[in-house]
Parts: sequence; structure tokens; C-alpha cells
Amino acid sequence: MSVRFYLLAIESSCDETSAAVLLNDKVLSNIIATQTIHEKYGGVVPELASRAHQKNIVPVVQQALAEALIDASDLHAIAYTQGPGLMGALLVGTSFAKSMALALNVPLLPVHHMRAHIMAHFIRTESEQHIPEFPFLCLTVSGGHTQLVLVRSATDMMVVGETIDDAAGEALDKAAKVLGLPYPGGPHIDRIAKHGDALKFSFTTPKTDGFNFSFSGLKTNLLYFLKEKNTQDPEFIGREMEHICASYQHVVTDYLMTNFEAAALHYGVSQLAIAGGVSANSVLRKKMQNLCERRGWDAFIPPFEYCTDNAAMIGICGYYQWKEGRVGKWSDVPKPSWSLHDF
Ligand code: KG4
Ligand code: ZN
Repeated sequence: MSVRFYLLAIESSCDETSAAVLLNDKVLSNIIATQTIHEKYGGVVPELASRAHQKNIVPVVQQALAEALIDASDLHAIAYTQGPGLMGALLVGTSFAKSMALALNVPLLPVHHMRAHIMAHFIRTESEQHIPEFPFLCLTVSGGHTQLVLVRSATDMMVVGETIDDAAGEALDKAAKVLGLPYPGGPHIDRIAKHGDALKFSFTTPKTDGFNFSFSGLKTNLLYFLKEKNTQDPEFIGREMEHICASYQHVVTDYLMTNFEAAALHYGVSQLAIAGGVSANSVLRKKMQNLCERRGWDAFIPPFEYCTDNAAMIGICGYYQWKEGRVGKWSDVPKPSWSLHDF
């Protein structure tokens, strides 16, 4: 008979305070409190994020336990995001996790946020289980990271390409900002682009070595394009918004998929996964499916709820670490700049 392992997971690396309860690899609850306070500043304000985490953490954990129909005393371990992320935000989750683990006398499982995005593919769902086989290649695209990761096991991951400047999510969020859209802009671009012509305007696809990415030039390209058009016609952005969003998103997603395909061919993998907030993008999901159908590869696309930041992914990552006996120490501290290279 398999062990029944109840785990509480905490995510507080950026602007979502989240808690989840897992029974082995199954999610019993996944509560996310999104901090809307940052919207009016057009980006995450670290100080405000820490305060909001401090306010939300206890109610979010209580709700996660209640929804999972368990008591804190049933827990066998606490997983939490140790990094990367904002120092003040990570401190809230780390201190809370330590205190609770100490009080319950259960082990701590410190989790790397970007590994957790990848491990979200291993959450057991009600439908037929469809999980990647090792080794697989994962394109992890979020607001702070863009990486191509060769996943050899649950705890053995190698970065084979990454952005040398902005992340893909950042490229979308910054574009949205200059277009006057709310923060975070990625989902707004996705929504507005649905009615636009992706080939109406052309932006320059960045060029990078190996399987690396660069998005800062593309963002500048858009900025100059808009400035020029706006000088000629102040109504331009408003009138062409749908086409601008569609064309810009088209270049970003094509660029991601071109590198992804080249890396998959280079490493000889036929199992491809996407992860992170930008993997919620409808065009990226479609292009991923098309690529894998064309090549006869297997595509792993996470359910929407596990794309953007959530504690369930921290829980599944912690669960796999626990199975390998990788538990944390009481002296562990947050790692705001923790690289996937140093795991
Ligand atoms: O993984 P995530 O929730 O947080 C980080 O770890 O950064 O990713 C957030 C990013 C933001 O840049 C947001 O604009 C983007 O994911 N995002 C999207 C979509 N949903 C979220 N980008 C494009 N299309 C979407 N549907
Ligand atoms: Zn994330």
C-alpha cells in the first residue's frame, strides 16, 4: 500500500500569495491571492508585495487546509519557495514555513521556483495521466525567466539556453505598458490579439547565439515603431491596437518556438513541454501543438491553473524532492538570485 503523504506548499516569490495541500502527487487545494495593488504602478513594487504577503499568508493557508478537509496536524512536510524571487516576498513565505514546520515537527522542503514551473507537469489530474518521460526539453517562459531546460530527472535539470536580457513575459508586459494596457500586460495582449492580423506589421526577429534569447531589441523596435507612427497619426495606436498586439505576439512566439525546435533537434528529444506564466498564451500553446504534430513529437502543455504562479507546483516539486530525501535545514535562507545552474 502506498504511503499517504500530506504536504502543505507555500509560494510567495513575487506578487501571488499561494498555499496548496497535496496528497502525494494529487492537489487537494490550491489557493491563490493575487495582489492587485501593483496594477496602478504598472509593475510589482517589492515593498508592497512583502506587506501584502504578510497580510495574506495566514488566511490563504487556512483556506487551503479547510478546502483540503485536513487539519494542520495531518501534515507530513512543508514545501516553500526558497528562490529565485523578491527578497522581502521570499522572507515572508520562508519564515512562515519554518515556523509552521517547527511547530508541527515536520521537515521543510525548500523549492526552486523555476524547477517547480517545470514539475507542474507531474501533478496528477483526474483525466488520464499524461506526464513527460525523461529526458524531455522544457521551454520555461515567465515574467522573470526564459529558459530552455533539458530535464533528465525530477532533480537533474540542465539549462541549455536562456535569455541574455529581458524575459519573454517582460517583453510582453513592457510592450503592453507602452500600448497603455494594464499590468501584467501579457494576458491583455493575448486577448486583444485574437482579433488582429498577425502579419500586418513586421518586427525584427532577434538573433542570438546557440539556444539563447534576447528580447530587449524587440521591445525597442516596437517603441520606435510606435513613436514614428504616432508622430504621423496620433490615432494610430488606438485604431491599430489589435494588429499591433497580434503582430508583436507573433514575433515573440515564433522566436521562442524556432529556438525550441532547434534545441530539440540538437539534443535529440521528442518530448517537449512548456511551463511558466507565458505558457498560458493561446498562440504559444497553438504553435507548440502544431510543431509537435508536424514533427511527430509529444507536446506537454500545462492546464491554465498551473501556468502562472501557484503553490501546487511548489508542492509537487517538494514531493519529488522528499522522495529523494532532499529535505531542508533550519538555517536555510531565501535565495533571491538562485540560478537553476546551482541546484
Ligand atoms: O510564471 P509567472 O506567473 O510569474 C513569474 O514567475 O514571473 O509569469 C508571469 C508572466 C507575466 O509576464 C504575464 O504577463 C505572463 O506571465 N502571462 C501571459 C499570459 N498569462 C500570463 N503572457 C502571455 N499570454 C498570457 N495569456
Ligand atoms: Zn513563476
